[in-house]
Amino acid sequence: REAPVLTIDGPGGAGKGTISRLVAERLGWQLLDSGALYRLTALAAGKHGVALEDEAGVAEVARRLDVVFVAEREATRILLEGEEATTVIRTEQVGDAASRVAALPAVRNALLDRQRDFRQPPGLVADGRDMGTVVFTDAPLKIFLTASADERARRRQRQLREAGVDASLSSLLKEIQARDARDMQRSVAPLKPADDAITLDTTCLTIPEVVDRLTELLTERG
Ligand code: C5P
Repeated sequence: REAPVLTIDGPGGAGKGTISRLVAERLGWQLLDSGALYRLTALAAGKHGVALEDEAGVAEVARRLDVVFVAEREATRILLEGEEATTVIRTEQVGDAASRVAALPAVRNALLDRQRDFRQPPGLVADGRDMGTVVFTDAPLKIFLTASADERARRRQRQLREAGVDASLSSLLKEIQARDARDMQRSVAPLKPADDAITLDTTCLTIPEVVDRLTELLTERG
């Protein structure tokens, strides 16, 4: 039998990244940050002068992606072609480019096997948009993590403030709504809960509350 997978899908800013990392740490499971693969693909395309609209070209970049994930205490360090890429892939600009290349079917296809390779014993926590609907359809537990757009904008603002960046709530809200629309309306692997997913609205929940709830659900299913 293959290693179990917990899929955590949902819109940006719902807390998937933090929650996935904490749950994986608690269980001692592998972690897949699939959004990082799309961000790295967009970044690498830029580096190699491949236009984001060039579907075959970007898919080739995705297939050849030379990336190393280094698990460290607080976060995961990411090296792209041997160069530090941990913080640069988190910028709004790369996020926007990522959601553009993510709408290209050939690019999504090129990243499928690479994502499935993360499924190793004792288990995998997979964070993304289509983990439960496309990549790991047989996952025993699928979660759809959401929060209101206002709350996600506030969280994003707090995060940016901690990094010393000032951004208005209204501009963040606009960005979040634009990204949601693009992710939900694309024809390939649109953002939506899997039929067998459990939806968890985190608007009024703290991070430890969500982590506890997920570990409870896993025990019930296990
Ligand atoms: O989650 P994150 O914000 O890092 O993802 C960046 C972008 O990559 C998303 O806006 C989405 O368009 C795309 N993505 C995707 N499928 C995934 C993960 C991310 O299409 N499984």
